[in-house]
Amino acid sequence: MAEQQKIIIDTDPGQDDAVAILLALASPGELQVLGVTVVAGNVPLPLTVRNALNVVGLSGRQDVPVFAGCDRPLHRESVTAEEVHGATGLDGIDLGEPALTAAPGHGVDFIIDTLRREETGTVTLCTLGPLTNIATAFTRAPDIIARVKRIVLMGGALFEGGNVTPAAEFNIYVDPEAADIVFRSGVDLVVLPLDVTHKALTSRAWIEGLRALGTRAGAAVAAWTDFFERYDTQKYGTEGAPLHDPCVIAWMLRPDLFDGRFINVEIETQSALTLGMTVADWWRVTKRAPNALFIGSVDRDGFYALLTERIARL
Ligand code: RIB
Ligand code: CA
Repeated sequence: MAEQQKIIIDTDPGQDDAVAILLALASPGELQVLGVTVVAGNVPLPLTVRNALNVVGLSGRQDVPVFAGCDRPLHRESVTAEEVHGATGLDGIDLGEPALTAAPGHGVDFIIDTLRREETGTVTLCTLGPLTNIATAFTRAPDIIARVKRIVLMGGALFEGGNVTPAAEFNIYVDPEAADIVFRSGVDLVVLPLDVTHKALTSRAWIEGLRALGTRAGAAVAAWTDFFERYDTQKYGTEGAPLHDPCVIAWMLRPDLFDGRFINVEIETQSALTLGMTVADWWRVTKRAPNALFIGSVDRDGFYALLTERIARL
């Protein structure tokens, strides 16, 4: 078994974030989740914090602290996605008021303090939402940048096109300046864009299989996915919906399920037309230095088998 990896999950739950968090917390042999930092994204921060607390509570891993982070992008007005995730951001099943409470302190300070405390090159940042917390931490404490092992992030798009504008994916579009700071930071980046997440489509059989587990976690994931997929199946005309954020955790657990290229990826922060675009040099037509492993494909069956096996543990 691979050695246990230390991670911080930065997230804006979101049904797909919730499944990713459960996948990570169901994998203690491979992942030591040092903490969950929450950011405004799919819904405003108070709701993303409430949702994160409920998801960690559902996993039974009360040992994992949840910190509230940034409540708006660095320089822009908030953009949210209630049309996709519902008014609560976690529509599909009502988990009630969280039993857990957020840890004291700001999520950005937790990221800074943790990276300064842990041995250099041992902590991976797994980001599932806009990159505001990460960019704020890097700006406030540049000394931590060299201490980060890797950032594995869900965000961006190339051949798939954007999901918020024709050019931009939501996590990057919400805070393009934050994404630009991260992509220029020099940190080892693994990017899971829509190009791969749109190949990780749910299926009715998989959802019903989770429901048949007869567990609270299985029922919750099935209910979240039922709710989440209605928007994308109508938009894209596909049978299933893309489970975006669990691809980040699945890459951590089984990178062999994925394939991509080490290329240059830069962020559009000026153009009104293409704001938030991940300009990915897939064909290496520029001389710009590669800075990211840009993932383009996934073994869908292997991905869903991993998800089922781990969710069944909770
Ligand atoms: O574009 C998909 C991303 O935006 C996912 O992280 C989803 O949770 C939303 O945050
Ligand atoms: Ca997300």
